[in-house]
Amino acid sequence: MNDPGSMVQTDRLSPDEAGLARAATLLRQGRLVAFPTETVYGLGADATDASAVAGIYAAKDRPRFNPLIAHVDGLKAAQEQGVFEDAALRLADAFWPGPLTLVVPVAPGGTVCDLARAGLDSVGLRVPSHPVARALLSAVGRPVAAPSANRSGRVSPTTAAHVLADLDGRIDAVLDGGSADVGVESTIVACLDGTIRLLRPGGVSREAIAQVIGGIGKVLTEDDNHADAPLAPGMLASHYAPRARVRRDVAEIMPGEAALLFGPMRPRHAERAVASLNLSPTGDLREAAAALFSALRALDQPGLATIAVAPIPEAGLGEAINDRLRRAAAER
Ligand code: TXA
Ligand code: MG
Repeated sequence: MNDPGSMVQTDRLSPDEAGLARAATLLRQGRLVAFPTETVYGLGADATDASAVAGIYAAKDRPRFNPLIAHVDGLKAAQEQGVFEDAALRLADAFWPGPLTLVVPVAPGGTVCDLARAGLDSVGLRVPSHPVARALLSAVGRPVAAPSANRSGRVSPTTAAHVLADLDGRIDAVLDGGSADVGVESTIVACLDGTIRLLRPGGVSREAIAQVIGGIGKVLTEDDNHADAPLAPGMLASHYAPRARVRRDVAEIMPGEAALLFGPMRPRHAERAVASLNLSPTGDLREAAAALFSALRALDQPGLATIAVAPIPEAGLGEAINDRLRRAAAER
């Protein structure tokens, strides 16, 4: 399912007991289910299953891997995934459930997959207030990754009909919970390294956030990056890049390089590679997308100078895979 071109039947589910149970089962099986939140409809997938998360990108035709928000049913589930220090706890306490996403360090034992976090050591978590979303998340019992349920480049959907206009035949189901009433996405606040930073304005205002953290800090924005020196460089970049250099589209492995392969073809002198991983020996782009970030991390060992990457076709999910590799090759 969800291969570009292969259509699936999209079930319309009512938010009653049977509909919720069906939606939860589909999500637990790695399928894609759109569901209402108080901001916009989200396109949900099991956040712990990289192949399911890759399906989100395929269905949306999204040419880039960004970290996705993992939706959970309460603070307890959120704390299994992320580390909540004072500021994050206060914000969660004040605004959850509701249109606030908190970006916090990944908790030891956190299960949100690398692809959903775009390889970062932080995780974006949100507890939506919409009753249908809450019931669904409780039934799933796992974090659910969900960007807005629209094709890339289209407006965010606030009704099940909007979702179907974009994604009918590309996702397994939509849970119809009427119209989303906020209409703008959640506010995103990063609580990392002792700073509190507004990453995206949204349903909760900056003033409301500033008031809650009043005694303990100041709300920075992306523009304050340079003004506030003590930030570790790259800490807040929302894109993971390996430390080693990345060389793309290689036909030959050079001495000392690690090899990131794709499909059955082997580059010349593959035996020179100090380490080698294949994103998908059969050349399946979805499998490759699911494996990308963990493979980069596994190869990116201290002392390694270069990761040599075999050619990856630019079709379908290949576009997002190549986008990330291109940036990793350039970000030096
Ligand atoms: O209202 C919403 O938040 C909607 C509904 C469906 O809940 N969801 C939504 O999700 O907008 P999404 O996945 O499109 O939001 C992703 C954005 C990223 O582009 C990034 O800005 C931020 O969330 N984000 C998530 N995790 C992050 C992380 N670890 N570090 C930095 N930014 C992160
Ligand atoms: Mg969106």
